[in-house]
Amino acid sequence: MSFSSRLLLAAPSALALMASAAHAQNAPAQAAAVDMIQADARAAQTVAQMTADEKVVLTHGIMPLPLGGPTPPIPADAVAGAGYIPGIARLGIPALKETDASLGVSYVMGIRKDFATALPSGVAQAASWNPDVMYRGGAMIGSEARAKGFNVLLAGGVNLMRDPRNGRTFEYLAEDPFLSGMLVGAAIRGIQSNNIISTIKHFALNGQETGRKYVDVKITEGAARESDLLAFKIGIEQGQPGSVMCAYNRVWGEQACANDWLLNRVLKQSWGYKGFVMSDWGAVPNLEAALKGLDQQSGEQLDPGIFFADKLKEKAATDSAYKTRLDDMNRRILTAIYASGLDKHPVVPGGKIDFEANAKVAEETAKQGIVLLKNSGVLPLAKSAKSIAIIGGFADGGVLSGAGSSQVQGEGGAAAVKPVAGKGVWASFIAQQFHRSSPMDAIQALAKDAKVTFRDGRYIADAVEKAKQSEVAIVFATQWQTEGLDVPDLSLPDGQDELIAAVAAANPNTIVVLETGGPVKMPWLNKVAGVVEAWYPGARGGPAIASVLFGDTNPSGRLPLSFPKDESQLPRPKLDGSDWVEPDFAGNPTSGSDKLVSDYDIEGSDVGYRWFARKGQKTLFPFGYGLSYTSFESTGLKVKGFSASFTVKNTGQRAGADVAQVYLVSRNGEAKQRLVGFSRVPLEPGASKPVTVTFDPRVLADWKDGGWSLPGGEYAFALGKDAENLSAPVKVKLAAKKWKD
Ligand code: BGC
Repeated sequence: MSFSSRLLLAAPSALALMASAAHAQNAPAQAAAVDMIQADARAAQTVAQMTADEKVVLTHGIMPLPLGGPTPPIPADAVAGAGYIPGIARLGIPALKETDASLGVSYVMGIRKDFATALPSGVAQAASWNPDVMYRGGAMIGSEARAKGFNVLLAGGVNLMRDPRNGRTFEYLAEDPFLSGMLVGAAIRGIQSNNIISTIKHFALNGQETGRKYVDVKITEGAARESDLLAFKIGIEQGQPGSVMCAYNRVWGEQACANDWLLNRVLKQSWGYKGFVMSDWGAVPNLEAALKGLDQQSGEQLDPGIFFADKLKEKAATDSAYKTRLDDMNRRILTAIYASGLDKHPVVPGGKIDFEANAKVAEETAKQGIVLLKNSGVLPLAKSAKSIAIIGGFADGGVLSGAGSSQVQGEGGAAAVKPVAGKGVWASFIAQQFHRSSPMDAIQALAKDAKVTFRDGRYIADAVEKAKQSEVAIVFATQWQTEGLDVPDLSLPDGQDELIAAVAAANPNTIVVLETGGPVKMPWLNKVAGVVEAWYPGARGGPAIASVLFGDTNPSGRLPLSFPKDESQLPRPKLDGSDWVEPDFAGNPTSGSDKLVSDYDIEGSDVGYRWFARKGQKTLFPFGYGLSYTSFESTGLKVKGFSASFTVKNTGQRAGADVAQVYLVSRNGEAKQRLVGFSRVPLEPGASKPVTVTFDPRVLADWKDGGWSLPGGEYAFALGKDAENLSAPVKVKLAAKKWKD
């Protein structure tokens, strides 16, 4: 078979491949796809040599942690982390040693006594709109996973942000499928460049934490294919992850980890995915999940039973459907092992980590992801400032991080601020953790002669007094998010709105630095001089924030999700299940709470900015929005077929980077908004650069009657400073097309 015909098999959508050919990262994606095909052939040969007992070794594993309660024996070679699947020495198959997650090697509630480098949150990474930054971050955290003895990193969280109150918004990337897919794919490639496996998760439609183990999502196939599933599909094409982790929730009444439509029909049949599906921890309902497409039962002590060991072996001995599936399950797991070279590049714990070099990767990611939301001229601050009041957010000590299984503990340990009383398994034993990277120290280091004072903000009058005595007041405001718990609304908690308003009234040079998991309401917006969204900025968050405040870094981040004015603008003004009966400690429904339905057909595939455009609503800050200390102009949009070209110019006085965005705005006269291309363009003052972006035809098309359908006719495209600030449209005619996924 020729190289090119093998490629077409590897990535089933030839049209999509053509479309993304202009993306520099496509060549390595194609190479990885070829690796998967070759690994699959080798895996088939190994399966042929396996005994019946061996066939249920790779299909299930434990969480190798003493969690309290009955803990299965932990093998001597297991590393404390999320998962352990034994290997088969006779066949040269290594054990799978799994750790979370997308922000770095998680610290498993302090059970493993080491540190790791914390990348900024997922949404902060995505705000860079830079696949290259995602790749470097992935390569860095993957190298730390390997050094600590792990060969599977449970990263790759790419659920679309359908609701900004989702407690895992900080872990995910964006509300747009194209942006999410391209970014997660780059991160996965970076991770797997370490000869370890990356997952992509949580498949699929896992949009909220409230009732997460039983919330039942209803969505038409077309809407799902054009939104959440498209993000996964692009991520898989770009990243070729060895594994997909299925989700906790239900879809059309079936658990996602035992969902024939999601796992068999979409992922494996329609997309031709060759890797394996691992369950989320505690998400396997029964043995039949094997027939529904699940290949591996993870963290089995958390499930109602160990289904994929003896029970599976017995069933496979008598039932041909299970027998065939069991071979396929092994073949898929082995495909991932071989494609990433786990057998040829064994992991050994105790590897050297260059924390200084890795922290620089985290710092660069934070700098590219910080978004300047408002600047009435106060920023960048002068380093000659004489007095600066820093208020709130524990900014004297560090920067906030999000919690749950993705929690990383950075060098020097975390400052745990307070235990959180709340419902659910996570909230009951975790604390808000701050990475020890003090914004205050970093500010003082840049403004050497300034008198920098700190007030924690608990007493408003005292904070106001300090603000009055200073040239500049910087309020650090935090919103903590954690897995397992959605935020009840989009307000800043703990009276921070009142604090900000009072400080702003006392000092006209008040700047708010937000450390939030996602959007928050800003009732004080008109009163403050500047707002900087720093998200959870990771291991070197302090210096990254200071660098933006003083202009050493010209902010270039853009919002990867819309900031609504308030909850009333959302498709579900009230979060489904927020008034529901609480689940039990493990997140399972208590009696009577089992019928929670979430109707995603309200917005369908119009997630985020698409929804606000459809409703004609202006948000507080739109998707794609972000200011700079310089100015840019994009002009001369020309569209030819599936590509657009234009020129970006830095029209200001400072070097900086623009994020050029191209949107579909209408199709045959009917308003329809889709991000179709983006490019981060660094430019010196006065310089300009021609840019070409290539569209993925799926973004323009509809999913109809089992395939993609692009109606022929007139398509209008516009350059966008953001999703609400668009240039005059340029129209082109496109021919009708239909194709399979
Ligand atoms: C999370 C996954 C994680 C797994 C293992 C689950 O609670 O949903 O994202 O990978 O735990 O820690």
